[in-house]
Amino acid sequence: MRFLVIGGGAREHAIAWALAKANAEVVVASSNANPGLQHLAHASTRIDPTDKVRVVEFARAQGVDAAVVGPEAPLAAGVADALREAKIPTVGPNQDAARIESSKRFCRQLLAKHGVAGQPRFLIPQAVEEVDRAVGEFAGAPFVVKPSGLTAGKGVWVQGSDFTEPREGAAYAKSLLLQGGSVLLEEKLDGEEFSQMAFVTDSGVYPMPAVQDFKRAKEGNLGGNTGGMGSYSQRDHLLPFLSAAARNQALSMMEQAVGALRAEGFHYRGILYGGFMLTARGPLLLEYNARFGDPEGVNVLSLYEEGNFAELLLGVASGRVDPTLLRFRLRATVVKYLVPPGYGDRPQAGGVLELDAPAIEAAGLHVFYGSVEEVGPGRVRLSNSRGLAITAEASAIHEAGARVEGALKFVKGAYYVRHDIGTKEDLARRTEHIRQLLAPGAKPSPLPLSVAPPNAPPSSSASPEEMIG
Ligand code: AMP
Ligand code: GLY
Repeated sequence: MRFLVIGGGAREHAIAWALAKANAEVVVASSNANPGLQHLAHASTRIDPTDKVRVVEFARAQGVDAAVVGPEAPLAAGVADALREAKIPTVGPNQDAARIESSKRFCRQLLAKHGVAGQPRFLIPQAVEEVDRAVGEFAGAPFVVKPSGLTAGKGVWVQGSDFTEPREGAAYAKSLLLQGGSVLLEEKLDGEEFSQMAFVTDSGVYPMPAVQDFKRAKEGNLGGNTGGMGSYSQRDHLLPFLSAAARNQALSMMEQAVGALRAEGFHYRGILYGGFMLTARGPLLLEYNARFGDPEGVNVLSLYEEGNFAELLLGVASGRVDPTLLRFRLRATVVKYLVPPGYGDRPQAGGVLELDAPAIEAAGLHVFYGSVEEVGPGRVRLSNSRGLAITAEASAIHEAGARVEGALKFVKGAYYVRHDIGTKEDLARRTEHIRQLLAPGAKPSPLPLSVAPPNAPPSSSASPEEMIG
C-alpha cells in the first residue's frame, strides 16, 4: 500500500514511521526537507502543502492508495477535499468540517446550537465598540482572549499569564478585530489540560490514549504559549490526574461534537483532537483540532503495535474502522522537543546540533525530526521552530522522562529543552492541583453570573444559524 503523507514535521515523521513499520510505502509532500522523512520516503517533493493542485498532481503521479494530512493549514485550505475529488481516500476532514479547528467561533457556535455540554462561558464581540461591554460581563473574573483563526497555538492570551489588567485583554481583543479577525472572550478555567485524540469516520469515534502537552515555552509553565514543548502519556492510557470517568465524559463530548457536525451535513473522516481542561466542573472544552497533535501524536504513534497502522488509516479514510486494529501498547511515553535557544520569545535559528541518532535508537528511544535541515552526517541545523522530538517509553512516566534526559548526552550543541516534563515533582504537583480542586468543600472558582450559561448561544454575537453552513 502506498501512502501520501502531507507535512514535514516530527508528527509527520512519526506517522510515516508507523506506516513504514506496517510495510506501507510512504511518499511525502512538504515544504521542507525533513531528514527523518527523507530517509523513510520512497519519493518526496518540496511543495507548499496547502497548494491543492500540486498536492493532487503529486499524489496522482505517485499512484498513492491513500493520503494522510498532518498539519491544520492544508485542511483549512481544502487539500482533503481536492484529494477526495481525485478519488484518493484521505485521512483528514474536508475544509468545511475542518472549521471545527480553523474557526474557534464556528466551533463554539456549533456546539452551543446543538446543546453539547462542557463549554466554558464565552462571548463573541462583533465590533471594537462591543469589547468593553463584553469584558465587563466577566465582572472582574479572569478571562481569555482568543483569535478565532489558526495561530499555531500562539495567539491565545490568558489573564494572569499573558496580560494582567482587563483593559490589556480588551486592547488585544480590539487589535484583533481591527486587523479584520474574529475574536472570542472566554472565562479562564482552572484545572489541568489534557489532549484526547480519536480516529473519526462514518462507523464511529475510536479513542487513542490520553496525553498531556506542555504548551508554555519555559520550565514551570512560564513563558509564552507554543505549539507544545513536550508531552507524556500513562501506561493505562489515562493520566495521573485523569480518571476513566472524566476521560469518558470527554469522549462523550467528542461523540456529540461529531454528531453536531453530521447534523449540519459535514462528514468527518480523520483525526479529532479535543483539548480539554479538567476542572471542578468536569472536563471542559478548550478547543478542537482536526489532526494529530504535535507532539501528542508522537506519543500515541510510538505506542501503536507493529504492523497494522496502514490498514487502520485506510479504514479511517474509507469510512469503516475495524476496532480490533486499535492496538496501543500499555506503556508510558515521554516526548521532549529540542528547540532553538530563545524559543517562545526570540528563537535563534541556524545553530548546528551534532546528533548520534543510532546511539539513541540503540538505547531503545526514538528521534523524530522536526524543523531541522541535515547539513552532514549526524549534523542538523535548527530553524526557528521546534527541532527534534526525543521519545522514550517505560512502565512509569517519570522513568520515560528520565530516559529522555539520559539520551540528551547524544546531542551536542546549543538548544533548549524543558527538563521538567515527566518528572515525579511535576506529576505530583498536577495530581495535587486536581485533588484540591475536586476536594469536597473546595471553593468553586468564582463564576461571573451575568455571563450566559454554558449551553446558551453567546449574547453578543450573530445567531448560531447565521454562522454555520
Ligand atoms: P487553544 O488554542 O484554545 O487550545 O488555547 C491555547 C492554550 O491557551 C490552551 O492550551 C490553554 O493553555 C490556554 N487556554 C485556552 N483557553 C483557555 C481557557 N478558557 N481558560 C484557561 N486557559 C485557556
Ligand atoms: N500540541 C498542540 C497541538 O498540536 O495543537
